[in-house]
Amino acid sequence: MGRLEGKNVVISGATGGQGQVACRMFGDEGANVLGTDVDEHAGAALSKELGEKGHQFTFIAADLSNNIGVDTLGAAVEERFDRVDAVYNNHGIILGKPLLETTEAEWDKIHDIDLKSVFLIMKRLVPLMIERGGSIINVSSVGGLVAFANMAAYGAAKGGLAMFSKVAAVDLAPHNIRVNAICPGVIDTPMPRNFVSGLAERDQIWKGFEQGHLTGRLGRSEEVVALAIYLASDESTFMTGAAIPIDGGWSVQ
Ligand SMILES: NC(=O)c1ccc[n+]([C@@H]2O[C@H](COP(=O)([O-])OP(=O)(O)OC[C@H]3O[C@@H](n4cnc5c(N)ncnc54)[C@H](O)[C@@H]3O)[C@@H](O)[C@H]2O)c1
Repeated sequence: MGRLEGKNVVISGATGGQGQVACRMFGDEGANVLGTDVDEHAGAALSKELGEKGHQFTFIAADLSNNIGVDTLGAAVEERFDRVDAVYNNHGIILGKPLLETTEAEWDKIHDIDLKSVFLIMKRLVPLMIERGGSIINVSSVGGLVAFANMAAYGAAKGGLAMFSKVAAVDLAPHNIRVNAICPGVIDTPMPRNFVSGLAERDQIWKGFEQGHLTGRLGRSEEVVALAIYLASDESTFMTGAAIPIDGGWSVQ
């Protein structure tokens, strides 16, 4: 018997590095998963893989930065599930740029995707959770807890997401809905790899990523998803309003 047997779970960023691992691991724990991301082709490939494994998995393509995409997701969720038990807001983008070079459009894009989307998703999906309660897991970042150079927009959005999760935990507690934020260190996915790929000093920066963690290495998606599974499961029913670092100790230094 899986730890999420029969639970209906929505996972965003489903075709990304951590998202794909999440869709696999949540399915292995018995969850019915609706995954969402922007790339329809990658979603079809994931659906095929998980269908062959016997998982209850559906994919819907949607851009979650605006209400049109969030409504597309909401309609698909209503069609697939009669209720929602957990929402794992894992989608996101990063921007590494000095504050004074960051444009208004870049600032808005980061905030629309990394922060506003989660507000829109909650407004759309929480009504489907209210009767039975449930768990919302928002992926923030160590960059939302401590200040990194050239991360003004990302740090503000992810820091905002950590605080938004706490406020939402207060507002949604009467509905028996728990809200927690996960704050990963650098996790070995396409995100940090693409981030350094165009930089002349990429090997040095990658080494800095490794050494920034007390563990001396990057995190693995499986390590982050294991925390999300705990937060989605009934093992964590006393946890709400937390912003949990899972960062190899980066944020204690
Ligand atoms: N990898 C890291 O080092 C790291 C560290 C801290 C936090 N995070 C956070 O972890 C989460 C997962 O990231 P990842 O490491 O798997 O990176 P990733 O780039 O592999 O995955 C992110 C996914 O989000 C999706 N996405 C982007 N914009 C979207 C939009 N408008 N609508 C819907 N989906 C959209 C992308 O298509 C992608 O599949 C993100 O929120 C990220 O900010 C990552």
